[in-house]
Amino acid sequence: MTENADGRRWWHGAVIYQLYVRSWRDSNDDGYGDLRGIIERLDYLSWLGVDAVWLSPTMPSPDDDWGYDVSDYTGVHPDLGTLADLDELIDQADQRGMRVLLDLVPNHTSSAHPWFTDAASGREAEHRRYYVWADPRPDGGRPNNWLDFTGRPAWQWHDSGQYYLHNFLPGQPDLNWWEPAVHQEFARILEFWFERGVAGFRIDVANGLYKDAELRDNPPLDSDNPLEGVFGMRFVYNSNRPETHGVYRDWRKIAESYSPERLLLGETWVPDAQRLAAYYGDNDELQLGFNFPFALADLDPARLAAIVEQTLAALPSGAGPVWMGSNHDLGRFPSRWCGGDERKIRLALLVLATLPGTTVLYYGDEIGMTDVDVPPALRRDHATLDLEGGADRDRARTPMPWDGSPGSGFTGPGVTPWLPMVDPPVSTVADQRDKPESTLSLCRRLLALRRTELGRGLADFENLAVTEGVWTYRTGPLVVAANFTDRPADMPAEAGEVLLTTSAEQAPPSPGVLRPWEGVVTRR
Ligand code: GLC
Repeated sequence: MTENADGRRWWHGAVIYQLYVRSWRDSNDDGYGDLRGIIERLDYLSWLGVDAVWLSPTMPSPDDDWGYDVSDYTGVHPDLGTLADLDELIDQADQRGMRVLLDLVPNHTSSAHPWFTDAASGREAEHRRYYVWADPRPDGGRPNNWLDFTGRPAWQWHDSGQYYLHNFLPGQPDLNWWEPAVHQEFARILEFWFERGVAGFRIDVANGLYKDAELRDNPPLDSDNPLEGVFGMRFVYNSNRPETHGVYRDWRKIAESYSPERLLLGETWVPDAQRLAAYYGDNDELQLGFNFPFALADLDPARLAAIVEQTLAALPSGAGPVWMGSNHDLGRFPSRWCGGDERKIRLALLVLATLPGTTVLYYGDEIGMTDVDVPPALRRDHATLDLEGGADRDRARTPMPWDGSPGSGFTGPGVTPWLPMVDPPVSTVADQRDKPESTLSLCRRLLALRRTELGRGLADFENLAVTEGVWTYRTGPLVVAANFTDRPADMPAEAGEVLLTTSAEQAPPSPGVLRPWEGVVTRR
């Protein structure tokens, strides 16, 4: 984990593990995962070979949106532990060479945040301007046509005589980034955590923050790409505003004033490489922005190859991409991309592990964990619970299946976990850990190979070909050949000596042949 004057940064080449804290390991048998549970299992992460963890929201919150509604930006949620636990986690991770990223939510707060309680107390309140308030239209109607992420109007009438804006739930009022005091508050929040050794932030709704000063109506949607807009409306005036870039230029200076440099990894919900690259600025804004077009592509090599190439071409010099297939909103790639087919899961892991830049694995990806069908009565995601046909986000937030014991190693025997476990656990960490042919062992080998062969830095990358479903690329000194079809395929001529195969079959393949859905890492 070096930091060099030559532009290398600790996250270049790194693997970040997204850990949904409530579902990872429950140390006190209350049914919720917690920080002490993570401390207990840090050796697992170090054995797996990850460089950093990103913790899903850890700050105090009424949990309308499971921590994405923050009521105190410098605390720890009592369900998850204490500030002392977090300090210990950072320290223990550091001793194992791992870093800790937190989730920061700057687009909105909880309506229970003291800023909002004050703001709502009257039009002259000190914090009134921290939020986006607007008068009704002359006919008494809402200020404009904006909808929140559930498709309902984004304006909530308040008895102080104005509407307030919520791009998410009514309990998540949007902050007003036109107000300079909001900038000062967040600069202090960043410094508070950086001083404690937090290595950086995943920034929630990073393309939100500023809203159009005139609150203009959003135009109609002319695309079926959910990254352009939803509910018939393009995201033009309620997000993606040019002024937001200034926030990240300021934050980047703060991040760079620490050693090692702190990382800003944005949830950049944008549809193409150009608009993604805009959030990197001239390599003076976010150091990383999530690539949603990649995650939302099918397991289609031509599409994936094109997105990788376009992304690398669009990023400013010195900056690197970040790749992921799963998260707590989109669901798990073993289901979405792979339909639970283990061969495909292993192939996708190979791709994620060998692309240049930074890779984010979601907890459970390493064992090929698929989405869990959570019966409606047991669902906990308030945001989507009462939505007809709404995305069920609980399916990808269920507890980690560690072993076959009662409680599955997640919680104690007889404790009801906050979301149901896979029942019975299909394939646990314990089942897979010592089996060389398991997905977990493969994932660990891939991460080790990535570390030794691709090293630290931004490996150069070249798409060699996508021919009849076989994707061949050069990444650093390696050539990867991946067969995305149900048929055996010829080994591409560019491939060299096979260092690793995704195939779980013990029998060697015929020389020169890739099995269906087999990928190999080779050296020439
Ligand atoms: C982000 C989070 C999501 C949350 C939303 C509002 O998209 O990933 O889980 O509901 O922001 O904070």
